Amino acid sequence: MKITIVGAGYVGLVTSIGFAILGHEVNCIDVDKKKISMLKNGKSPIYEIGLEEKLLQFLNKGKLSFSSKFNNVSDIIFIAVGTPSLGNGSANLKFIFSAIDSLLKHPSNSRLLVIKSTVPTGTNRKIRQYLLDKGSKYKVASNPEFLKEGAALFDFLNPDRIVIGTNEKSSEKVLEQLYKPLISNGTLFISTDPATSELVKHSSNAFLATKIAFINELSDLSEKVGSNIDDLAKGIGTDHRIGKEFLKVGPGFGGSCFPKDIAALYDTFKKQKVKSFILESVITSNKQRFFKVYKQIESIIGNLDKKRIAFFGLSFKANTDDYRESPAIKILKYLSQHDVTISAYDPKVKKVNLDFDIEVHQNYKSALRNANALVIATEWEEFSQIDFNSIQKNNLMNDNIIIDLRNILDEEKIVRSGYSYYKLGKVKNVL
Ligand code: UGA
Repeated sequence: MKITIVGAGYVGLVTSIGFAILGHEVNCIDVDKKKISMLKNGKSPIYEIGLEEKLLQFLNKGKLSFSSKFNNVSDIIFIAVGTPSLGNGSANLKFIFSAIDSLLKHPSNSRLLVIKSTVPTGTNRKIRQYLLDKGSKYKVASNPEFLKEGAALFDFLNPDRIVIGTNEKSSEKVLEQLYKPLISNGTLFISTDPATSELVKHSSNAFLATKIAFINELSDLSEKVGSNIDDLAKGIGTDHRIGKEFLKVGPGFGGSCFPKDIAALYDTFKKQKVKSFILESVITSNKQRFFKVYKQIESIIGNLDKKRIAFFGLSFKANTDDYRESPAIKILKYLSQHDVTISAYDPKVKKVNLDFDIEVHQNYKSALRNANALVIATEWEEFSQIDFNSIQKNNLMNDNIIIDLRNILDEEKIVRSGYSYYKLGKVKNVL
């Protein structure tokens, strides 16, 4: 099939490459000419495992193209533009409607418009009405994405389910055909109405975020009662009704999706005058988490003034260079209120644009030099491979304190190497 994807951001780009891998011919459009020119040259504007290799491969095969202008030859048009949060939590849909306006200016062979962008329930209905008012004959369907940054292409090709929302049998058939290679491999295809499909997306993210907020609160409790949070998570998560994923303790959840999507779902509850005690608590729980973790760091290091803190991990999680809404940055912001020097290191974030100053080092050793403590904020595999024993032997740090906010280091080894090691949720190391 011939597909047009509007939006070359995270979702649009991964979806474009994913559909090309599935055998379709994809044209991805973005108004950002710089980005399009990069992509045309086979350069990915984002770091995502395996993405650039596939980008080049399918560009060369002629199955993938990029442009800043609309064409009129596709069978289906996907809208995959951003839906950022407005100050009040509701989603800003202006990029969706401006993309639709641009589409309408161009004659098109396509009759099916698929909304891939994450939108509040009811948006597809609004879009349909908008199109009708403009005299357009486009049919509209919802098809949310479930792509985790850092594993996005894998998630596209190995989904737990494909969800589509449409009221027309003909659109359902087209989308079923589009995803046939995945469906034939046994992927569940859930076809429902647009409002439900939209809600599946927001509710999935909200549920996962709830699991994280819960384990983080249990971690606080563990510190008081002397239980081990990692074993506790294992004990809970191995009940298959609960599931072991998204029960990893950490400094709070972040990124461009969870905080925004929970706020948007909460806004929908409010607009419909339905009370959500759960979402309200998850939002509050996560917000206070960053501050709490900062206070724990302060209580371990003591007076922060004139201290040098090595800080590992700036992205919102491992395997991405994305630091939007990163818990690491939120904690750094609190730390920066003191007269401290932050020497940060991240395997992929090599420069940052923040409203406070930090040093960003190009290698971890240079970040550790003369530090009074090391804070690990992101679960990059590289950090657990570091030979901390030799760091200690070479007296690289001034004080051998490690505060592990992702519980990724081997505690026994680290303690044996002479460090004071603090991890989340363990009473003997009360933070
Ligand atoms: C999330 C969802 O997982 C995807 O399914 C969804 O498609 C995507 O949002 C989206 O809406 O586009 P993403 O934000 O890329 O994906 O990253 P996650 O892996 O979900 O992590 C979100 C945050 O939760 C990160 O800060 C991460 O460190 C944190 N987290 C995750 C934990 O603290 N503990 C965990 O056990 C898991």
